[in-house]
Amino acid sequence: MEAKTISATMDFIKSFFEGDASGHDYLHSLRVWGMALHLAEKEKVDKVFEIQMAALLHDTDDHKIGGDGVSFPKAAQWLKEVYVSDASAKLILEIISEVSFKGAQTQTPVSTPQSAIVQDADRLDAMGAIGVARAFAYGGKHNRPLYLPNEAAVMHESFNDYKKSQSSTLAHFPEKLLLLKDRINTASAKQIAENRHQYLATFLQTFMDEASVYEKYIPVE
Ligand code: ADP
Ligand code: NI
Repeated sequence: MEAKTISATMDFIKSFFEGDASGHDYLHSLRVWGMALHLAEKEKVDKVFEIQMAALLHDTDDHKIGGDGVSFPKAAQWLKEVYVSDASAKLILEIISEVSFKGAQTQTPVSTPQSAIVQDADRLDAMGAIGVARAFAYGGKHNRPLYLPNEAAVMHESFNDYKKSQSSTLAHFPEKLLLLKDRINTASAKQIAENRHQYLATFLQTFMDEASVYEKYIPVE
Protein backbone atom coordinates (compact mmCIF):
# COMPACT_ATOMS: atom_id res chain seq x y z
CA MET A 1 0.00 0.00 0.00
CA GLU A 2 2.71 2.49 1.03
CA ALA A 3 4.84 1.63 -2.01
CA LYS A 4 1.83 2.28 -4.27
CA THR A 5 1.13 5.63 -2.60
CA ILE A 6 4.74 6.68 -3.05
CA SER A 7 4.74 5.63 -6.68
CA ALA A 8 1.45 7.53 -7.31
CA THR A 9 2.95 10.58 -5.57
CA MET A 10 6.00 10.42 -7.85
CA ASP A 11 3.66 10.49 -10.88
CA PHE A 12 1.75 13.43 -9.37
CA ILE A 13 4.97 15.36 -8.73
CA LYS A 14 6.20 14.62 -12.22
CA SER A 15 3.15 16.21 -13.83
CA PHE A 16 2.98 19.01 -11.22
CA PHE A 17 6.50 20.25 -12.01
CA GLU A 18 6.30 19.56 -15.76
CA GLY A 19 8.01 22.37 -17.67
CA ASP A 20 9.60 24.01 -14.61
CA ALA A 21 12.88 25.70 -15.51
CA SER A 22 13.54 27.43 -12.18
CA GLY A 23 15.58 24.64 -10.59
CA HIS A 24 12.42 23.13 -9.11
CA ASP A 25 11.82 20.52 -11.77
CA TYR A 26 10.57 17.02 -10.87
CA LEU A 27 14.11 15.69 -10.46
CA HIS A 28 14.80 18.17 -7.64
CA SER A 29 11.98 16.57 -5.63
CA LEU A 30 13.22 13.12 -6.61
CA ARG A 31 16.80 13.94 -5.49
CA VAL A 32 15.48 15.26 -2.17
CA TRP A 33 13.48 12.04 -1.78
CA GLY A 34 16.56 9.87 -2.50
CA MET A 35 18.81 11.91 -0.21
CA ALA A 36 16.17 11.82 2.56
CA LEU A 37 16.02 8.01 2.28
CA HIS A 38 19.83 7.84 2.41
CA LEU A 39 19.97 10.09 5.49
CA ALA A 40 17.11 8.21 7.23
CA GLU A 41 19.04 4.98 6.78
CA LYS A 42 22.31 6.47 8.04
CA GLU A 43 20.67 8.22 10.99
CA LYS A 44 18.44 5.24 11.77
CA VAL A 45 15.31 7.38 11.82
CA ASP A 46 11.87 5.73 11.58
CA LYS A 47 8.61 6.89 9.91
CA VAL A 48 10.31 6.51 6.57
CA PHE A 49 6.96 6.59 4.72
CA GLU A 50 6.20 10.06 6.08
CA ILE A 51 9.77 11.19 5.30
CA GLN A 52 9.41 10.03 1.69
CA MET A 53 6.00 11.64 1.19
CA ALA A 54 7.18 14.95 2.69
CA ALA A 55 10.31 14.93 0.53
CA LEU A 56 8.30 14.33 -2.65
CA LEU A 57 5.67 16.97 -1.81
CA HIS A 58 7.92 19.55 -0.11
CA ASP A 59 7.84 22.15 -2.92
CA THR A 60 4.22 22.00 -4.22
CA ASP A 61 3.20 24.98 -2.04
CA ASP A 62 6.57 26.76 -1.92
CA HIS A 63 6.48 30.57 -2.01
CA LYS A 64 8.72 30.53 -5.11
CA ILE A 65 6.25 28.28 -6.97
CA GLY A 66 3.18 30.41 -6.26
CA GLY A 67 2.30 29.33 -2.70
CA ASP A 68 2.45 31.58 0.35
CA GLY A 69 5.02 29.35 2.09
CA VAL A 70 2.98 29.19 5.30
CA SER A 71 -0.01 27.05 4.23
CA PHE A 72 0.20 23.82 2.24
CA PRO A 73 -3.16 23.23 0.53
CA LYS A 74 -1.90 21.35 -2.54
CA ALA A 75 0.08 18.83 -0.50
CA ALA A 76 -2.84 18.44 1.94
CA GLN A 77 -5.29 17.84 -0.92
CA TRP A 78 -3.03 15.20 -2.47
CA LEU A 79 -2.66 13.37 0.87
CA LYS A 80 -6.48 13.18 1.07
CA GLU A 81 -6.70 11.89 -2.50
CA VAL A 82 -4.38 8.98 -1.74
CA TYR A 83 -6.07 8.23 1.61
CA VAL A 84 -3.06 8.89 3.84
CA SER A 85 -4.18 8.56 7.49
CA ASP A 86 -4.79 11.74 9.48
CA ALA A 87 -1.86 11.01 11.82
CA SER A 88 0.57 10.50 8.93
CA ALA A 89 -0.76 13.52 7.03
CA LYS A 90 -0.27 15.67 10.12
CA LEU A 91 3.39 14.68 10.41
CA ILE A 92 3.99 15.01 6.64
CA LEU A 93 2.52 18.54 6.57
CA GLU A 94 4.52 19.51 9.65
CA ILE A 95 7.73 18.33 7.98
CA ILE A 96 6.87 20.28 4.82
CA SER A 97 6.14 23.44 6.83
CA GLU A 98 9.64 23.28 8.34
CA VAL A 99 11.70 22.60 5.20
CA SER A 100 12.20 25.97 3.58
CA PHE A 101 14.96 28.54 4.11
CA LYS A 102 13.43 31.88 5.18
CA GLY A 103 16.29 34.39 5.18
CA ALA A 104 19.83 34.75 6.52
CA GLN A 105 18.78 36.06 9.93
CA THR A 106 15.63 33.96 10.26
CA GLN A 107 15.50 30.72 12.24
CA THR A 108 14.10 27.51 10.71
CA PRO A 109 13.83 25.11 13.67
CA VAL A 110 12.79 21.48 13.21
CA SER A 111 10.45 19.71 15.65
CA THR A 112 11.14 16.07 14.74
CA PRO A 113 14.04 13.92 13.47
CA GLN A 114 11.97 13.36 10.32
CA SER A 115 11.81 17.11 9.69
CA ALA A 116 15.55 17.43 10.29
CA ILE A 117 16.22 14.86 7.57
CA VAL A 118 13.99 16.36 4.89
CA GLN A 119 15.29 19.87 5.62
CA ASP A 120 18.88 18.59 5.29
CA ALA A 121 18.10 16.76 2.04
CA ASP A 122 16.55 19.88 0.50
CA ARG A 123 19.45 22.07 1.59
CA LEU A 124 22.05 19.69 0.21
CA ASP A 125 20.37 20.02 -3.20
CA ALA A 126 21.01 23.79 -3.12
CA MET A 127 24.75 23.14 -2.60
CA GLY A 128 27.57 21.68 -4.73
CA ALA A 129 27.54 21.58 -8.54
CA ILE A 130 23.80 20.98 -8.65
CA GLY A 131 23.30 23.93 -6.30
CA VAL A 132 25.23 26.22 -8.66
CA ALA A 133 23.19 24.99 -11.63
CA ARG A 134 19.89 25.46 -9.77
CA ALA A 135 20.78 28.97 -8.59
CA PHE A 136 21.48 30.19 -12.14
CA ALA A 137 18.40 28.41 -13.48
CA TYR A 138 16.33 30.25 -10.86
CA GLY A 139 18.04 33.55 -11.63
CA GLY A 140 17.45 33.15 -15.38
CA LYS A 141 13.81 32.26 -14.89
CA HIS A 142 13.34 35.37 -12.71
CA ASN A 143 15.29 37.74 -14.97
CA ARG A 144 18.08 38.26 -12.47
CA PRO A 145 21.54 39.36 -13.64
CA LEU A 146 24.34 36.85 -13.08
CA TYR A 147 26.00 39.37 -10.75
CA LEU A 148 26.33 43.10 -10.17
CA PRO A 149 29.73 44.73 -9.49
CA ASN A 150 30.07 45.89 -5.87
CA GLU A 151 26.68 44.51 -4.89
CA ALA A 152 26.28 44.20 -1.13
CA ALA A 153 24.73 41.01 0.20
CA VAL A 154 21.45 41.55 2.07
CA MET A 155 21.17 39.41 5.20
CA HIS A 156 17.35 39.25 5.35
CA GLU A 157 15.82 39.67 8.78
CA SER A 158 12.34 38.36 7.98
CA PHE A 159 10.71 35.83 5.67
CA ASN A 160 8.75 38.68 4.05
CA ASP A 161 11.90 40.63 3.17
CA TYR A 162 13.53 37.43 1.88
CA LYS A 163 10.50 36.66 -0.35
CA LYS A 164 10.78 40.13 -1.92
CA SER A 165 14.51 39.83 -2.61
CA GLN A 166 15.66 40.99 -6.05
CA SER A 167 19.37 40.27 -5.62
CA SER A 168 21.56 38.98 -8.43
CA THR A 169 22.22 35.27 -8.50
CA LEU A 170 25.78 35.68 -7.26
CA ALA A 171 24.54 37.67 -4.25
CA HIS A 172 22.36 34.66 -3.42
CA PHE A 173 25.56 32.81 -2.52
CA PRO A 174 26.43 34.88 0.61
CA GLU A 175 22.73 35.53 1.30
CA LYS A 176 21.84 31.86 1.47
CA LEU A 177 23.92 29.16 -0.19
CA LEU A 178 27.15 29.68 1.78
CA LEU A 179 25.19 29.74 5.06
CA LEU A 180 23.65 26.30 4.56
CA LYS A 181 26.68 24.32 5.76
CA ASP A 182 26.21 25.66 9.30
CA ARG A 183 22.48 25.06 9.28
CA ILE A 184 22.55 21.33 8.67
CA ASN A 185 20.94 19.18 11.37
CA THR A 186 22.30 15.64 11.05
CA ALA A 187 25.88 14.36 11.25
CA SER A 188 25.49 12.35 8.03
CA ALA A 189 24.35 15.40 6.07
CA LYS A 190 27.10 17.56 7.59
CA GLN A 191 29.74 15.33 6.02
CA ILE A 192 28.18 15.66 2.58
CA ALA A 193 27.66 19.41 3.09
CA GLU A 194 31.39 20.01 3.71
CA ASN A 195 32.36 18.95 0.17
CA ARG A 196 29.42 20.70 -1.43
CA HIS A 197 30.18 23.91 0.46
CA GLN A 198 33.80 23.79 -0.68
CA TYR A 199 32.62 23.51 -4.27
CA LEU A 200 30.32 26.55 -3.88
CA ALA A 201 33.12 28.61 -2.30
CA THR A 202 35.60 27.69 -5.06
CA PHE A 203 33.03 28.49 -7.75
CA LEU A 204 32.32 31.89 -6.20
CA GLN A 205 36.01 32.77 -5.89
CA THR A 206 36.76 31.69 -9.47
CA PHE A 207 33.77 33.69 -10.77
CA MET A 208 34.90 36.82 -8.90
CA ASP A 209 38.48 36.43 -10.15
CA GLU A 210 37.33 36.13 -13.76
CA ALA A 211 34.89 39.04 -13.43
CA SER A 212 37.44 41.33 -11.80
CA VAL A 213 39.65 41.57 -14.93
CA TYR A 214 37.57 44.19 -16.75
CA GLU A 215 36.71 46.26 -13.73
CA LYS A 216 39.97 48.24 -13.68
CA TYR A 217 39.20 49.59 -17.17
CA ILE A 218 35.82 51.03 -16.23
CA PRO A 219 36.06 54.84 -16.09
CA VAL A 220 35.52 56.24 -12.59
CA GLU A 221 32.61 58.71 -12.65
P1 ADP B 1 14.18 26.48 -0.08
O1 ADP B 1 12.70 26.25 0.02
O2 ADP B 1 14.90 26.21 1.21
O3 ADP B 1 14.50 27.81 -0.69
P2 ADP B 1 14.27 25.05 -2.57
O4 ADP B 1 14.27 23.61 -2.84
O5 ADP B 1 13.03 25.82 -2.93
O6 ADP B 1 14.68 25.36 -1.06
O7 ADP B 1 15.52 25.64 -3.32
C1 ADP B 1 15.66 26.94 -3.68
C2 ADP B 1 16.49 26.96 -4.94
O8 ADP B 1 16.21 28.18 -5.62
C3 ADP B 1 17.96 26.93 -4.62
O9 ADP B 1 18.62 26.08 -5.50
C4 ADP B 1 18.37 28.36 -4.75
O10 ADP B 1 19.67 28.54 -5.20
C5 ADP B 1 17.38 28.91 -5.72
N1 ADP B 1 17.08 30.30 -5.38
C6 ADP B 1 16.21 30.79 -4.52
N2 ADP B 1 16.24 32.13 -4.46
C7 ADP B 1 17.18 32.48 -5.33
C8 ADP B 1 17.71 33.73 -5.74
N3 ADP B 1 17.25 34.88 -5.23
N4 ADP B 1 18.68 33.70 -6.66
C9 ADP B 1 19.11 32.53 -7.18
N5 ADP B 1 18.65 31.32 -6.82
C10 ADP B 1 17.70 31.30 -5.91
NI1 NI C 1 13.18 22.06 -2.55
